[in-house]
Amino acid sequence: MVESAALPVTLTSPMPELEFDLTLYPAPVLRRVASPVEAFDDELHSIVEAMYRRMYASKGVGLAAPQVGLKKRILVLSPTGEEGDQQVLINPTILEKSGPSTLFEEGCLSFPGIYAEIERPELCKVRAFDLEGNEHELEFDGFASRIVQHEYDHLEGILLVDRMSPADKQRHKTALDNLVFDFKQAREKRARAARRP
Ligand code: CO
Repeated sequence: MVESAALPVTLTSPMPELEFDLTLYPAPVLRRVASPVEAFDDELHSIVEAMYRRMYASKGVGLAAPQVGLKKRILVLSPTGEEGDQQVLINPTILEKSGPSTLFEEGCLSFPGIYAEIERPELCKVRAFDLEGNEHELEFDGFASRIVQHEYDHLEGILLVDRMSPADKQRHKTALDNLVFDFKQAREKRARAARRP
């Protein structure tokens, strides 16, 4: 008989805390349609906790899972930006958008330093699940509604750059080109490191 474990395995040890970096434009994961969460388990709790920490550390008011490299339908928000004020929406569906369309300046953690006025309806009604897998119907208005709509776009692979006016796109051309340049540089650096014996 072979004893497989040379060291005792401590089953009660907590999962190591996840640490997420931000995924910046134009990383391909930001362009994919995210997949539904299927298991409402400890891993999901850890992911959401780490997303909250990333959002607050980056001074964001919202974050979607693709922005930390995960193709999952999870978004978090904190309209006040204050810790403890956060909310998570898992597998959200926007049931209805209504009210007048308003223009408001938006930024995105995946587009550092780029801001543009984006037009969106004032209200949205969402069906989503919480961490325990309970279904909720929620209504958002004002800033919170805007965040939910922005983060929901991420789950569909739609980005700030797609919602900008042509004039804003032109105005931000250099900054956008720089992000593409940095992404390619980082990718080549990783490829070179992988080739090294
Ligand atoms: Co964003």
